Amino acid sequence: MKTFLLEFLICPACLPEERPLQSFKLEVQKQDIISGQLTCKACSRAYPIREGIAFLTAAKQFHHVAPSKYETASVLSSYLWSHYGDLLKDPDASDAYHQWAALLKPEGGLAIDIGAAVGRFSFELARKSDRVIGVDSSYAFVKAARDLLLTGKAEIDLAVEGILTRKETIILPKEWPRNNVEFIVGDALALPFRQSSFTTLTSLNLIDKVPKPLQHLAELNRIAKYDRAQLLFSDPFSWSTEVAEEQDWLGGTHEGSHAGRGMDNLKTLLQDHGNHLKPAWQIDQQGQVWWKIRTHCNHFELIRSCYIKADRNS
Ligand SMILES: C[S@@+](CC[C@H](N)C(=O)[O-])C[C@H]1O[C@@H](n2cnc3c(N)ncnc32)[C@H](O)[C@@H]1O
Repeated sequence: MKTFLLEFLICPACLPEERPLQSFKLEVQKQDIISGQLTCKACSRAYPIREGIAFLTAAKQFHHVAPSKYETASVLSSYLWSHYGDLLKDPDASDAYHQWAALLKPEGGLAIDIGAAVGRFSFELARKSDRVIGVDSSYAFVKAARDLLLTGKAEIDLAVEGILTRKETIILPKEWPRNNVEFIVGDALALPFRQSSFTTLTSLNLIDKVPKPLQHLAELNRIAKYDRAQLLFSDPFSWSTEVAEEQDWLGGTHEGSHAGRGMDNLKTLLQDHGNHLKPAWQIDQQGQVWWKIRTHCNHFELIRSCYIKADRNS
């Protein structure tokens, strides 16, 4: 974990209190913390850093109804293709990440990609922000993203058919900045960062994958700069009881405080009509991006991800 993160970190288990973390036995090489521990004096919780990866989740905050599929080799391969298929010059690759990136303006400051998976959008953000942090709850995804960050390349076993696979090598373009990016294991429902830290925030295809969608929004809102920030939010709103209880969905129901369509509810929440997310955001743009995930050479998932770009200026 790069040392620049240290000043922004807090204990995720103590939220809503923001308590600092103390460093313990850090082994640092060229501003990268390879191993050590971050501890909270208030709750005595310890967060390890192993082989450069920081684990900043408060385990008690996880309430997944089903175990995570994001740790399996086949899903890792699918996401590597989804994120970097264009670099493999695959004619089937989608340009979703370019489309999303074009919606954000260069803003400087700190950016966060929440639910970063294997990191593509964090690298896109690195060209628009001073520093970028990609956060994901999957160790396998964070490890793959960090390996790409360190080496600039990754081997991928692409499923062809049945158990047949084809090896490909993803090589990141030389001009993509990598020094200003970092990936950590963290929870979108208890982000280990100080309030009002981030100028650019993204949540792509995540809100329907967390057990408490409103808490994800509240967390995102807490760490966004109060006076000046931009937010890119995109999702297909595939609500499922395997992930979250129906009463916690932010759309897709007939009754309850978030009945109706997810996009309408999200806009209402961001504009602070629900009195949850203060100070209010202004909706700048709205639209959709076709996003693709590959299962094998003849099987793809085509997903309409509906986005909102919102700003906060006061
Ligand atoms: C559908 S994928 C989207 C990945 C990426 N944002 C994109 O659009 O390509 C959802 C991602 O969210 C991550 N995730 C799920 N629950 C999470 C949580 N509570 N905190 C952080 N990340 C989470 C998964 O590991 C996975 O990488």
